Amino acid sequence: MQANANNNVQLTPVVEDQVSRIIAKEAAASSWPWRSDQLLKSLEQGHHCLVCSLGNKVFGYCVLLDAVAAMEILNFVVFKEFQGRGLGTEMLRQIIKFSVKQGAEEMWLEVRESNHAAIALYTAAGFQPGEVREKYYPLGGSQREAAIQMQRRIGA
Ligand SMILES: CC(C)(COP(=O)(O)OP(=O)(O)OC[C@H]1O[C@@H](n2cnc3c(N)ncnc32)[C@H](O)[C@@H]1OP(=O)(O)O)[C@@H](O)C(=O)NCCC(=O)NCCS
Repeated sequence: MQANANNNVQLTPVVEDQVSRIIAKEAAASSWPWRSDQLLKSLEQGHHCLVCSLGNKVFGYCVLLDAVAAMEILNFVVFKEFQGRGLGTEMLRQIIKFSVKQGAEEMWLEVRESNHAAIALYTAAGFQPGEVREKYYPLGGSQREAAIQMQRRIGA
């Protein structure tokens, strides 16, 4: 499965029954995965929790916080077996379209400074680095690493 111009990536709302499966897939895909309670809390708080699929295959999911004129990406994951095929790029394109429809003019996110794959993906999609928050994310033990804020204009 490869993303290309003819592919039709679909975004559909996460339903509670999917949470444990999604979290199990995320655990295998990410060094710093969310727990079920975090995703359940996002659902409860009305964040946009969206599974991404191509054909009948769910290949990832994201969580977006609607802050009126800005959309913040709280989580963004392509499951392990689908990484490196352009699907993250396509998923990002689709969530930008979705966010514009919701009225967002800007998109924001925070990423670990060691997450070179995600930083490269967002940079290629036109996101610019902004504020750096030193020692923001736990690294295990007493160590912490910086968060890089990235943003992009998406609206008119
Ligand atoms: C980051 C992530 C979403 C990328 O998804 P993906 O589907 O593999 O990305 P794509 O195939 O669309 O690749 C897009 C670009 O990202 C970069 N990239 C992707 N994987 C990379 C890797 N392992 N190392 C370095 N750069 C990488 C490249 O610049 C790539 O462009 P290229 O193929 O032209 O070189 C995926 O690795 C992931 O889910 N990681 C775990 C969760 C995570 O870190 N999420 C981000 C939270 S902020």
